[in-house]
Amino acid sequence: MTMNMTEKHDSFLPRPVRDSQSEMNEIVLPNDTNPLGALLGGRLMHWIDMAAAMAAHRHSHQYVVTASIDHLDFWTPVHVGDLVVLRSSVNRVFTTSMEVGVTVWVENYLADETRQVSSAYLTFVAVDAAGRHLKVAPVIPESDEEKRRYEDAGRRRELRRAERERRKANLR
Ligand SMILES: CC(C)(COP(=O)(O)OP(=O)(O)OC[C@H]1O[C@@H](n2cnc3c(N)ncnc32)[C@H](O)[C@@H]1OP(=O)(O)O)[C@@H](O)C(=O)NCCC(=O)NCCS
Repeated sequence: MTMNMTEKHDSFLPRPVRDSQSEMNEIVLPNDTNPLGALLGGRLMHWIDMAAAMAAHRHSHQYVVTASIDHLDFWTPVHVGDLVVLRSSVNRVFTTSMEVGVTVWVENYLADETRQVSSAYLTFVAVDAAGRHLKVAPVIPESDEEKRRYEDAGRRRELRRAERERRKANLR
């Protein structure tokens, strides 16, 4: 069925994870690097946020804001001229928030080599134009891998919540 662009999606219908799967590709240019020609960590964080937002938008069909980005490691350096591939999908929806997973890969087309650079979990909250939080449609994990990520996302949410409480208590 084709949908007229002016028709509104039913944004609360459950959707499979695959509907949110996104891929973003970037060629590393000199402006993305430090004086040694290595990709800046901050630039990669920006790309991770963008790639994750794509999946969150595709799933929720709403505006979203980034609530948090979990711990990030950079496992392998990326250099000027390399091709960076970011893949994202929604792991789990809670009420107004959703966890998105992003994996980052570097392709060196001269050496015909692909290596994983990083992976990250981000939480987005769906909002309307006035910034009010909105409920997000459930996500349906289908493959074994998606089901594992769904379960793990529940455990990570509890860890995040406990860490927020701990930090709040330390501020008092
Ligand atoms: C993130 C934000 C929407 C949370 O709003 P809040 O009123 O403090 O949070 P609430 O306690 O009502 O929680 C709303 C949801 O966000 C989740 N949440 C809040 N803070 C979170 C955090 N630090 N990490 C992960 N999830 C978080 C809650 O678990 C809840 O999820 P649920 O509805 O699925 O159960 C709000 O702090 C905000 O707008 N921050 C700025 C976002 C922004 O500008 N991001 C761009 C980078 S600057």
